[in-house]
Formats: sequence, structure tokens, C-alpha cells
Amino acid sequence: MKAIIPAAGLGTRFLPATRATPKELLPVLDKPVIQYVVEEALEPDGVDGVCIINSHEKPEIEKYFSVDEDFEAMLARSGKEALAAKVHEASSLPVSFAYQDDPKGLGHAVLCGAEAAGDEPFFVLLGDYFVPDRRMCVRMADVSAARGGASVIAVAPVPEDQVSRYGIIAGACVGSHPDYDAAGEEEGAIWKVTGLVEKPKREDAPSHLFIVGRYLLTPRVMGLLKTQDPGAGGEIQLTDALQRLLDEEELYALVVDPDEGCDTGTPAAWAATNARMALADPESSDAFLEALGREARDRLG
Ligand code: G1P
Repeated sequence: MKAIIPAAGLGTRFLPATRATPKELLPVLDKPVIQYVVEEALEPDGVDGVCIINSHEKPEIEKYFSVDEDFEAMLARSGKEALAAKVHEASSLPVSFAYQDDPKGLGHAVLCGAEAAGDEPFFVLLGDYFVPDRRMCVRMADVSAARGGASVIAVAPVPEDQVSRYGIIAGACVGSHPDYDAAGEEEGAIWKVTGLVEKPKREDAPSHLFIVGRYLLTPRVMGLLKTQDPGAGGEIQLTDALQRLLDEEELYALVVDPDEGCDTGTPAAWAATNARMALADPESSDAFLEALGREARDRLG
């Protein structure tokens, strides 16, 4: 089973930096954002590879994941074996690439990974966000296994004034993940989805549960994406294909705590994620607090 990570965007929110560096390669501590997402994608049992949907404008992403034996040998010769091992680790991840040179929307990006996914279920992980403990997709796989292999998406409560920024589901709570004792919109609750709408107006939103950016989907979704008309924003929307899926298959949603993950989608969120990861990293936290300076430390409380 494969996981698809769409990464062909232009990264306009990070201009001017993204003139030179793809936003997926911006570092969180010493690793690029996308490596955290790849490692998270490989965590559930059965996922044996990741297909990154790139554009030909960003060859640096492929270079990052490719082997460079000469470089590793040079590091090792100069006594930097630990760094050589980190470089090697990135290049040994099972990553392949497909291309989306026309930005036609998330649904179109996912469809570009159809060949890699084959005729099997597949995960989709949006790359602006990663879950350090890597458990979210594992729990989604549990829900799917308990529901006959049905598709499962991660959702979370969102304030009413923000519903128009996301995909929103309709449905009803039908149970709880075994690790939780949850109901309604609590973390761990499982919903049976009866409808989905991409970026609805506030008054049209069928609930306050938004799609977080983690999907475990049956192969039928690829078939539906092939004939999906453009929707919100003139783009081919994955959410619209999932709405059509409901005519043929069951779809479940697992309520998650989005704060389990780290957002890197805007410069402020990316900076906060670096701070959070630095504070959580025993090798970095003291030096990080020291480097922040007294005034900033006081503001952090
Ligand atoms: C995409 C999805 C949307 C989802 C969101 C999560 O939207 O289309 O359903 O809620 O990701 O981040 P985008 O952020 O690409 O506009």
C-alpha cells in the first residue's frame, strides 16, 4: 500500500524564500518538513512506499531523497559519521515521484499518484502538517479494518467562522476508536459520513467538523477522480469525489485533536512548529531557550 503526498504547490505564502527553496524543504530543526510527513506516512502497517506529487520546477526535493555515496563518504572521512548516517537515512526512505505540472487542485494532484497507488487502498497526507508521534494514520487504519476496509478521513472541530476555509462533513457519531471512550465531537469518536462540502459558506456548513488532511481511501476514489468536474475555486476537489463515493461505498471519519500535529503552512505556523519541536527535543531545548533571550523567555512564561 502506498501513501501519496501532494507537494507540487508554488509555496506563495513563503515568498520570497520559496524563490530558491521549495517550501517542503524548509527545515524543522535539522530535517525538512516533508521528511517528517514521509516518516509519518510509513508508520501504519502495510504502507511500503510514498509517492510525492511534485512539479518539475522543484527538482531539489528529488535530490534530497536520492543517494549521494560520494558525499556520505566525504562526511565519514572527515569524522562526521553521525551526519553521514542522517543523510543516508533520508536517501534510503522508499520515496517515488509523480508530477503535477498544472495546479488543478488537490483531487487532480491525488489522481497523478494513481499509477503508484495501483489497485489498492492508499493514504493521502497533506504536506503542510505533520504528526510527531505518527499515530493518527495508524488509528485511521484501525477504524478502516474494523469497518470492512472502508475509507476513513480525519476530522476535527473548527470554529464556525472558519468553516469556509475547509472541507466540512455531515454525518452522525456511530462509535469510538478502542483507545478512547469518546462521543460526539470528542477526540476518538467515529462518524459515519453522509455528506461532504468543500469550503462552504458559514450558513451552508453541515457541521463543525473539518477535514484535517489525512485520508485513507479505497481505490474507487481514483476512478471517481478521473471523471471529477472542477468545484470550489475552479479546482478538482478530492472532497467532491468523496461525496460521489457515498453513492457506492461507506465512508467514516475519525475525530482527532489537530494539535497533536504541527502546522507548517504559513511562516508564523512554521516558526511556531520549530519552537515547539525545539522545546520537545532534549538536545535542543536548553540551547533554544538560551538563544531566545530573556525578553522572549519571559513572554513564553
Ligand atoms: C484541503 C482540502 C480541504 C481540507 C484542507 C485541510 O484544502 O481540500 O477539504 O479541509 O485541505 O488543510 P486546501 O487547504 O488545500 O485549500
